[in-house]
Amino acid sequence: MKNFFGFIFLAGLFGIFINSCKTEESMDQKIEKLLSQLTLEEKVSLIHGNTYFTTPAIPRLGIPALHLSDGPCGVREENSPYGWSPANWNNDSTAYFPALTSLASTWNTDLATEFGDAYGEEAVIRGKNIMLAPGLNIHRTPLNGRNWEYLSEDPYLTSRISVNFIKAAQANGIAVCAKHFALNNQEFERGTINVEVSERALREIYLPAFETAVKEGEVLSIMGSYNRFRGQYACENPYLLQTILKGEWGFRGLVMTDWDAAHTTVGAAKNGLDLEMMPMEGTKDSYYTGQPLLDSIKAKKIDPKVVDDKVRRILYVMLKLNIIGKSEPDTTGMEALLAAPSRAKTALKIAEESIILLKNDQALPLDFKNIKTLAVIGDNATRKHARGGGSTVIKAKYEISPLEGLQKKLGNSVKINFALGYTVSQNMKSINHALIKEAVKTAASADAVLIFGGLNHEPGLDCEGTDRPDMKLSYGQDELIKAVVKANPKTIVVMIAGSPVDMGAWISDVKGLIYTSYLGMETGTALAGVIAGDVNPSGKLSYTLPVKLEDSPSYVLGEYPGKNGLVKYNDDLLVGYRYFDTKNVKPQFPFGFGLSYTSFSYGDCKVAVSGKDESLQCIVSFDVTNTGKVEGKEIAEVYVRDLESALPRPFKELKGFSKVSLKAGETKKVEVTLNQRAFQYYNPDKKQWVLEPGKFEILVGSSSDNILLKQQVEL
Ligand code: BGC
Repeated sequence: MKNFFGFIFLAGLFGIFINSCKTEESMDQKIEKLLSQLTLEEKVSLIHGNTYFTTPAIPRLGIPALHLSDGPCGVREENSPYGWSPANWNNDSTAYFPALTSLASTWNTDLATEFGDAYGEEAVIRGKNIMLAPGLNIHRTPLNGRNWEYLSEDPYLTSRISVNFIKAAQANGIAVCAKHFALNNQEFERGTINVEVSERALREIYLPAFETAVKEGEVLSIMGSYNRFRGQYACENPYLLQTILKGEWGFRGLVMTDWDAAHTTVGAAKNGLDLEMMPMEGTKDSYYTGQPLLDSIKAKKIDPKVVDDKVRRILYVMLKLNIIGKSEPDTTGMEALLAAPSRAKTALKIAEESIILLKNDQALPLDFKNIKTLAVIGDNATRKHARGGGSTVIKAKYEISPLEGLQKKLGNSVKINFALGYTVSQNMKSINHALIKEAVKTAASADAVLIFGGLNHEPGLDCEGTDRPDMKLSYGQDELIKAVVKANPKTIVVMIAGSPVDMGAWISDVKGLIYTSYLGMETGTALAGVIAGDVNPSGKLSYTLPVKLEDSPSYVLGEYPGKNGLVKYNDDLLVGYRYFDTKNVKPQFPFGFGLSYTSFSYGDCKVAVSGKDESLQCIVSFDVTNTGKVEGKEIAEVYVRDLESALPRPFKELKGFSKVSLKAGETKKVEVTLNQRAFQYYNPDKKQWVLEPGKFEILVGSSSDNILLKQQVEL
């Protein structure tokens, strides 16, 4: 909240200060009082949407409408009330923040807090109560069209980054909505696909980020996913919603459907769902939990008490937001505050720290003092990404493209020649030879060449609703890169992609490779800063880049995308680096990898164990030294390997990390604390997390395949 210069004023205006003196008990009393004043019809009206993104109000009791909005990159453009078309407002242009994949690749929990805070502020200004993010699904297959909206293939990294985002966003007096609960790891047949997964993989890979969001982040709402799990739709799944979420984890907030993801009145009423969003297809106001529910209650097929529990949860969220009995915030004239400089600065910081340097044969940073002509090639050099991708779409106040960022940085000092290189078309296999020829010509006469390629938010690429057909680059980019590198060996590739791409055709020929996800409104500024060396890159991969699709665990061990409506997660615990490590398969670039313009060394590792069970603390300390000539940030990664386990475990798992900033020559002691959960696995027979006594190895390194320090502990 520290960056929000106008917060106090706004909070007063909106009346959204949460009164910390309110005890849970007085809240319960308030809920029961309101509940006793509501008629059955009113209660039923509260448990489903009114418009596409609001719930109905009950003015006689001061119960307000809830205003919901997508999504992870900021507040979405205002929608028409009963459809997906834009409302065409002229005051809903907002901050466009980097994608959550970018946030994850910063590995910076403080930046996650800063992001959440800035994100919450924008939501308050737009008068939103519930923001539909973060997406906490795990990257299981490289082809998932929504990987870019999620954080990582690793549950620990996803948890640590998202929990700070959640806490900071909610501290602004809004609720966020962790989605899509659960196992929505592919877009292919997402509305019907039935996921079968072992209990261990469910608990150890797919649920931990949600568990952390609930227990630590106190997230106020959860969105059920479209898919089925063990035969039942996720939004009507009693095991997921009642047994685990509300039972074991003690979730008190509300569970909403994904849009139009309810399927039956009985299932929606009885199995743990609280709020149905979006009317049945083709209607304006028909909900499974509307008239059909009232009819079932009147016919005594459904106990009216199930409605009470849902209303209690909705009122609980409203009381937490302190919006009951308050007039709706008047946001007229507030648009000038959207995307304010402080939040643009946050977006820039995240973008800069998320950029990953994957290859550098003394090619970067570019020494612009000695460059007269720069060739900038590729559609992604000029493409703006805010308005694509599905529900994450943003009407950005502005978005600086890579080319604009370079032009702004270099002014007239360097002549920039741009060539498109490839055309974005529906036929992803099409190659535009004339554009390649033109790009080659532009590159041949330049002192340095930058190719901006990768993916975009067109359907079939990084886009909701479909998965990618393969991991290959589309539109003839391989041919373009090969031809340009041949014409000018000083070619650097900048891949903008939210999920893995196959770079095998040219990776060994290029001297420099930068990899980023979608970087938001300051994309060009951040990239230009890194390319020119004003910013030392410090991002690391939040997911493995396999050499080729055929190497990825969901492909090898299967299944993906499933058969006859069923997908079996036979890859089990071996998701991402857990597979590459355990099965000794070399990826193109490993999880947790990223270079810097400086170098680091690690040493003097010590491990101190104290306490046991809940109070177990394993403090891992070690030195990190900047051995290069410029200041930089290093992400030190701590993995745990179970040396003696009754059940098979992945070779090693990430359980801690720390990002440290070091001046040239500086050494800092880094301390990472591991708790009991860092050593446990989920025992399906005992139905609980267990710490099996025995030996464990603590592995410290700069990436998942570069372990530099080792210590053994016996617990
Ligand atoms: C998406 C959700 C989104 C919702 C509302 C659905 O299609 O899966 O992530 O929040 O639409 O736009």
